[in-house]
Amino acid sequence: MDWKSLRLPRYSDYIYTSLSSTSRPTLKTLLLRYKFPAILIATVCLCLLTKLLFYVMMINSPNLGQPVAWEEHCARHRPKNYTLINSLEPTKIFMGILTKDDTVERRSLIRKTYLRNKPPSMTFKFILGRPRKQYRTIVETEQALYDDIVVLDIAENMNYGKTFAYLQWVNEHYVQNTSSPIDYVIKADDDAYIVLERLEEALRVIEPDHAYWGYLVGNTFMGGECYALSTDLVSWIATNPIPSRYRSGHEDSQLQKWFRWGGIDSSVSYHPENCLIYDDPESGTIYSRKFGLTPGGENQTILIHKVRAAERFLEAGRVLLGSQWQEPRLDVMSDIVTPTGL
Ligand SMILES: *[C@@H]1O[C@H](CO)[C@@H](O)[C@H](O)[C@H]1NC(C)=O
Ligand SMILES: *[C@@H]1O[C@H](CO)[C@@H](O)[C@H](O)[C@H]1NC(C)=O
Ligand SMILES: *[C@@H]1O[C@H](CO)[C@@H](O)[C@H](O)[C@H]1NC(C)=O
Repeated sequence: MDWKSLRLPRYSDYIYTSLSSTSRPTLKTLLLRYKFPAILIATVCLCLLTKLLFYVMMINSPNLGQPVAWEEHCARHRPKNYTLINSLEPTKIFMGILTKDDTVERRSLIRKTYLRNKPPSMTFKFILGRPRKQYRTIVETEQALYDDIVVLDIAENMNYGKTFAYLQWVNEHYVQNTSSPIDYVIKADDDAYIVLERLEEALRVIEPDHAYWGYLVGNTFMGGECYALSTDLVSWIATNPIPSRYRSGHEDSQLQKWFRWGGIDSSVSYHPENCLIYDDPESGTIYSRKFGLTPGGENQTILIHKVRAAERFLEAGRVLLGSQWQEPRLDVMSDIVTPTGL
């Protein structure tokens, strides 16, 4: 065989064949003939896929909108009229702090700081999903010591229905329970230092009628660090099909979507408290501000959010309570038996 006489086909050969050939099409000619339509179809598919992904991201992302400027908010919403506060009954509150199996130190810190000043009209529990195997002993030990933990029958998560499961649980055990009547249910995160007496008073001066209290994000929903719902809203959430169908999503903005999608948003009373809630100045978020800016002094601030390190948590307590602050014992972490490996 004469190898030299063999020539590799060139691209032009294909073009020529594909354009002129009337004989039976080979795979090559077919590919060439349909190359451009194939590219076109692929591009269209890619565009549609991108659009779909974008849509899925959009419905799952919080609707942040324009942040509410806190100075402006303070100018419009402070001071609240607390004149009648002493003639009003203390608000009966159930508060759940959503926390995880492995944050035992934070729970200990919370017990040793702001929970010491829990008003008598408030009931409180830490809310967990099912603890992972390696944390079961410690959660059981904590529960035996403090009896302040509720384990929901769900896998641990934040944005896949934990809030819904929590609200359903409170509805069953407190809201619908005539032997332990309450006015409000609070959902809080464990990275906020909360002054519970101020929180109780803030709720005491508003009507518990479709009330939705908290830090208003972008004129839309209350931020997840700490929000309150009057019991009528909690029982609506627990029984209406909309929240149960759409339980996943950023837990805080998702909750407000339930009101909109369920057609009750116009009857919800929004009570934003943006003047008295802010993020730790060291967190660097758009909701953070320097200490010392709250009108009337930091002794009015209700909570500071995004306090991650234990030392910052103590610092937040010192700033909020001033002369009333009591330094917790330094062996705060050794109060519960810590299994090895933690
Ligand atoms: C606050 O409420 C009391 C009692 O309703 C009323 O007498 C007083 O004028 C109010 N103060 C302000 C600043 O609105
Ligand atoms: C209702 O409240 C009472 C008193 O707090 C409590 O003992 C009981 O277990 C509660 N019922 C439910 C279903 O949680
Ligand atoms: C609250 O703080 C302000 C400013 O720091 C101070 O003037 C005021 O006396 C404080 N009030 C109380 C009740 O501690």
